[in-house]
Amino acid sequence: MYDDAHTLTGPEIDQLLAAAQWAPSAGNSQPWILFVCERGSPNHARLVARLSRGNSGWVPRASVVFVTAAHVRTGTEADAPAYSDYALYDVGQAAAHLTLQARTMGLHTHQFAGFDHEALAVDLALPGTHLLLTGIAVGRQGDPTDVDERTAARDHKVRERRAVAEIARAGTWTEPWAVGHQ
Ligand SMILES: Cc1cc2nc3c(=O)[nH]c(=O)nc-3n(C[C@H](O)[C@H](O)[C@H](O)COP(=O)(O)O)c2cc1C
Repeated sequence: MYDDAHTLTGPEIDQLLAAAQWAPSAGNSQPWILFVCERGSPNHARLVARLSRGNSGWVPRASVVFVTAAHVRTGTEADAPAYSDYALYDVGQAAAHLTLQARTMGLHTHQFAGFDHEALAVDLALPGTHLLLTGIAVGRQGDPTDVDERTAARDHKVRERRAVAEIARAGTWTEPWAVGHQ
């Protein structure tokens, strides 16, 4: 749960953006844009109005939210800039770099896709060449008793992942990676 009294300074936000900026990208195309939504700003109001019900209890409390968009289509003009087939990979990587930078700054991040993408794309004047993807909420952990039980419970759920043997292959498709292999 985010501390809704915490704010990030301009230079702190710049540091987070620099981490995303320096993520590698295919052909150094950097085919993505981040919309910065600081709590209390017009962009924040645009985002909050479009959140799904499940996300509206916690996202607005974050200090800043970065909304990600990838360049996935070319424009109609003859000299329109090319897009990259790896745009989705690249924007995910930029998001991961930003997330790790936030962690080193003692901040908490939570990514989300639960919002009205079409409506927010219009609100942000997103060109048709770009696809709106996710939000990355960043802030300081706050007091869970400040919010309703259902929202607070999100912070206490048991974290799980698929086993490494399930996500990695030692050879072809049917050969799982043997964890602990020397
Ligand atoms: C692309 C993407 C979309 C997500 N959408 C939401 C969301 O709309 N609401 C939410 O609460 N969490 C969302 N999450 C967070 C995941 O639900 C979360 O990472 C997963 O449940 C594992 O939880 P953990 O990372 O805390 O272990 C999203 C994460 C990603 C990467």
